[in-house]
Amino acid sequence: LQLTGATTLGSLAGCAGQLPGTHDGEGREVKPRSTVTAEPDTSVNLTAASGTIRPAPDTSTANWMYEGQFPGPELRVQEGDVLSVELTNDLQEETTIHWHGVPVPNPVDGVPNVTQDPIASGDTFTYTFRAEPAGTYFYHSHVGLQLDRGLLGPLIVEERNPHVEYDREYVVIVDDYLPGEPEHPSDGGMGGGGGMGGRGGMMGDVRPPYEGLLINGRLPENPQTFDVTEGERIRFRFVNAASATVFGVRIAGHEMTVTHADGRPVEPVDVDSFVFGAGERYDAVVEATNPGTWAVQADALDGNEPPARAVVEYESAAGESPQPPSAASNQLQYGDLRAISSLDGVSGDPDRTFDLTLSRGSGQSYIWMIDGQVYPDADPFQIRPEEHVRIRMTNQSPVVHPMHLHGHFFKVGNAIKDTVLVPGHMGQVTIDFHADNPGRWLFHCHNLYHLDAGMARIVKYV
Ligand code: C2O
Ligand code: CU
Repeated sequence: LQLTGATTLGSLAGCAGQLPGTHDGEGREVKPRSTVTAEPDTSVNLTAASGTIRPAPDTSTANWMYEGQFPGPELRVQEGDVLSVELTNDLQEETTIHWHGVPVPNPVDGVPNVTQDPIASGDTFTYTFRAEPAGTYFYHSHVGLQLDRGLLGPLIVEERNPHVEYDREYVVIVDDYLPGEPEHPSDGGMGGGGGMGGRGGMMGDVRPPYEGLLINGRLPENPQTFDVTEGERIRFRFVNAASATVFGVRIAGHEMTVTHADGRPVEPVDVDSFVFGAGERYDAVVEATNPGTWAVQADALDGNEPPARAVVEYESAAGESPQPPSAASNQLQYGDLRAISSLDGVSGDPDRTFDLTLSRGSGQSYIWMIDGQVYPDADPFQIRPEEHVRIRMTNQSPVVHPMHLHGHFFKVGNAIKDTVLVPGHMGQVTIDFHADNPGRWLFHCHNLYHLDAGMARIVKYV
């Protein structure tokens, strides 16, 4: 399974702008989304602490997690509900939580030293926001490399009127498994220095020495079984919560009908497989019309680990081993995605355009840059409320970058997303968003090691 490279993902450049929808922004005042003061519909306490996980019966490792669970507890609310989460920090270091993909008010976005002071060890902090729009999201620490230590969990905002019919659903969190402490890539290690091993790296990139790939916190030798009944329609909510892995996903014996990209509804598209990067989500419906025991498989596109695996099982003879998926033929392309909902304020010509390069530093240090600058020592991108903002990215490096914008959805091609893969080798992707959520927002690569090495910028309303 291969990323199809610049010719496909890259061909999105320039698609935006000729899309349906009208600019309704005239005369409408954009106010900061202030912190919600209404009584919460759902209140949750999450404690971040270290503990031990058992991803397979004979494997146990120290991990950091929420409520002693890995992945963290599923937060599930109805669209429009006010969700209040009190986070207690029982770690020995500072932390925060970011609500990945949800356009929350800026003060509860969870970016340390940008939207809040980091929460000190022993302290608590309460995040309150209205959970909208409906979608498949996840939450994770936004401090350092804590995401790769296990501080993540699913956040599901249910539609009040789903446009997809289904009988049952499962959340599928795909992750790379790093026992022990993540290490910052060391200076001078061109793709192999320090503790990073450089395994699986491509032309100077580094990837931690992952000990395996996980679905819902379980190694492939210990797969979760998704029980289904013949005839049912199963909605799978796939979340790529990895720190440095792009995955290709397939289900043996079944076609997937992709219904949502990053939580936003799309016109249904039938595929055998899809590729997603860290921070991306897809919902897909599978019809249980082929009884048996079948593998749900996620292959790392840039690693050597055995694929992550779960099992779909219905009316099979006991002891039958799951059928692995065959080589995938019909792979989802961004160009196949057509959003059903519209994104206001991004039709026609943009009010402001940023033309950016994505590149690796050329010196001895492990550095990743957006437009030649290294975060936090980088100039914020300044925008004004109500503008239609375009960001065009050209990836001068050989590796793919999953770029994520906080606080906003963007239009890419005919899709609405919040995270997008920018292919290597001069791949180009253009995104358009409406400046409707004032604040200071992070725009960054969701490969945690690239983010940690400077691949971020602040988008600041002025
Ligand atoms: Cu999952 Cu800054 O994001
Ligand atoms: Cu990157």
